[in-house]
Amino acid sequence: MQAPGRGRIRLRAAGGGGCNKSVTEPSLARDFRRLRLVRPRLEDVPAPAFPAGFVLRPYAPGDEALWLELVQASDPLQTAGADTFARTFAGEPAELARRLVFLTAPDGRTVGTVAAWSGEAGWGRVHWLMVRPDRQRQGLGRALLYWALRRLRELGHARAFLITEAGRLAALRLYLRTGFVPDPQSPAERAVWDELRRRLGLTADPA
Ligand SMILES: CC(C)(COP(=O)(O)OP(=O)(O)OC[C@H]1O[C@@H](n2cnc3c(N)ncnc32)[C@H](O)[C@@H]1OP(=O)(O)O)[C@@H](O)C(=O)NCCC(=O)NCCS
Repeated sequence: MQAPGRGRIRLRAAGGGGCNKSVTEPSLARDFRRLRLVRPRLEDVPAPAFPAGFVLRPYAPGDEALWLELVQASDPLQTAGADTFARTFAGEPAELARRLVFLTAPDGRTVGTVAAWSGEAGWGRVHWLMVRPDRQRQGLGRALLYWALRRLRELGHARAFLITEAGRLAALRLYLRTGFVPDPQSPAERAVWDELRRRLGLTADPA
């Protein structure tokens, strides 16, 4: 695997109204090609701003079914199955409680989740960020992401990465606007970024 940061390209999400149109582009909507992004620093992450009445709570044993229901309701790519939680979050419940949270709306419904997980060589990993479709575009995803990045810093990580798929265009916009940069691990992955830049109007900004 290529060392993190080597051969990195930087992109920034273009402003303007084109992004909604791009997200519904059918040929990209079921694109499972994997992409890695990194956030090289965690000192500058803004405080998460959750709307009034929304509350974060940590994972508690027994939340597995809720997590799966939430993820399956939220993920258009439907990548989670019955064993995903156990495969992804193996570890002590206390460790899970430090790193995995659920977001509760004022009506008591669970509407989002994210994990401040850990990856190879001390990297923090933003994992399984999800917001229910009827609660999207209200700033919750950004707030959950900032929570995860700040929690990673509290837990001693200096930088973070995540793996996503090319079809997650809303997520890609969010990541590129919150300090993440593409970190392609292969020529094929670099080509995907080139394609996304060409098709979605993301502006290349050579490192
Ligand atoms: C990605 C996701 C978590 C974003 O959550 P959200 O609550 O809708 O995000 P926010 O409202 O905080 O939006 C933050 C920014 O993300 C980008 N964004 C979010 N949804 C977008 C969309 N549908 N189209 C284009 N950009 C979008 C925008 O830049 C937005 O900022 P803006 O509203 O100021 O333009 C949510 O779309 C989701 O759960 N998607 C399905 C699961 C998924 O793909 N998760 C990521 C796994 S790697």
